[in-house]
Amino acid sequence: QPVALWGGRFASGPAEAMAALSASTHFDWRLAPYDIAGSRAHARVLHRAGLLTGDELDAMLVALGTLADDVASGAFTPTIADEDVHTALERGLLERAGAELGGKLRAGRSRNDQVATLFRMWLRDAARRVVIGTLDVVDALVAQASRYPEAILPGRTHLQHAQPVLLAHHLQAHAQSLLRDVGRLRDWDVRAAESPYGSGALAGSSLGLDPEAVAEELGFSTSVDNSIDGTASRDFAAEFAFAVAMLSVNLSRIAEEVIVWNTAEFGYVTLDDAWATGSSIMPQKKNPDVAELTRGKSGRLIGNLTGLLATLKAQPLAYNRDLQEDKEPVFDSVEQLELLFPAIAGMLGTLTFHTERLAELAPAGFTLATDIAEWLVRQGVPFRSAHEAAGECVRVAEGKGTGLDELTDDELAKIHSALTPSVREVLTVEGSVASRDARGGTAPARVSEQRERLVARLAEH
Ligand code: ARG
Repeated sequence: QPVALWGGRFASGPAEAMAALSASTHFDWRLAPYDIAGSRAHARVLHRAGLLTGDELDAMLVALGTLADDVASGAFTPTIADEDVHTALERGLLERAGAELGGKLRAGRSRNDQVATLFRMWLRDAARRVVIGTLDVVDALVAQASRYPEAILPGRTHLQHAQPVLLAHHLQAHAQSLLRDVGRLRDWDVRAAESPYGSGALAGSSLGLDPEAVAEELGFSTSVDNSIDGTASRDFAAEFAFAVAMLSVNLSRIAEEVIVWNTAEFGYVTLDDAWATGSSIMPQKKNPDVAELTRGKSGRLIGNLTGLLATLKAQPLAYNRDLQEDKEPVFDSVEQLELLFPAIAGMLGTLTFHTERLAELAPAGFTLATDIAEWLVRQGVPFRSAHEAAGECVRVAEGKGTGLDELTDDELAKIHSALTPSVREVLTVEGSVASRDARGGTAPARVSEQRERLVARLAEH
């Protein structure tokens, strides 16, 4: 006989299709350990409010302990008749503590304040796992940067050759954005660390309970200031969904580059066999599936965020059953990321970069033209004319079919009187890179300082 939590005013049980629509244990069972932790804390405040005797509290905690063990071992599982995780666990408690004692625990709480609290707890733990996974990816990027500290990369804007940079500089740029994602999750946690327990259905509790004590026991920094907000708001879930969607977009941008770098046309990298796949028909293929799945899953995480926002947008306060739709998208985002992290870290960490090819391509497309202009500025030429003269160098070199460094002394002097042969100092990729030595720039010394700061930040975590 199913134990509904609200039998009293009903003459019959729910229709089968009603129950099927309503059921959520196939996804909210993840919250079971948090639900039991909440019940323990709640039992203690009931005791302190004089609503459970000391003996009753002890018996309740023993029963909850057995239930927790049985949930962990799989001996206790939800049935199709259990509407949700809370219903199932109440049945489990009644079976272990007896109906008399077990029936006392629900006083002063509602599934509305429970679910809002447990979802926050799950997300806060998930955020910690996501941070660890992200840091593993950052580690892989920084390890590659240290493996190739001085290798050159043709830096691009608009995907066109722009200016040469250090490969390490570029890899570290990705590390920076991922560390901001980590920062976002930590900032989020400060706001998420408020417990709605004690809000009841929406109006709070009349039983003299202590929401702050529950909050503290459950690892929150405080309890919510407003019980209506505590049960109705899900911006904590949406903000989390944004933080992880942004993270997945940052991972997708890395992935996109690996895919491009791995083409025959670019030829920048070779993927390790362990992190590539073959084709069932074309024997020569070695495909960047990890990167493609990363790029693909970012679309899924964006969808999870927008789906959740759409679920929330027209809900009046306080709790509505629509809110049951809040959990699956966010659970899914976390689960997809947990699949991705080890694969991305593995793929990135084992990439072989073809540094000779990278160096060879770096000056292509007259990427040192800006260096000519800036060299002229250092000789006192206004940038406007310097830019003009450097542009003319490009035009002449292009006409001859040579590089900028092959312009003759005469050709240079004809373009601008200040263009003496010593301009060739900056017409090497190494010279160009070394000259960009202000904070944040691509000069090897600056890039290795950046890397030291990254390593220090990784060590903080
Ligand atoms: N299972 C619901 C959820 O996930 C919580 C139950 C609240 N149900 C209710 N009828 N008030 O949001």
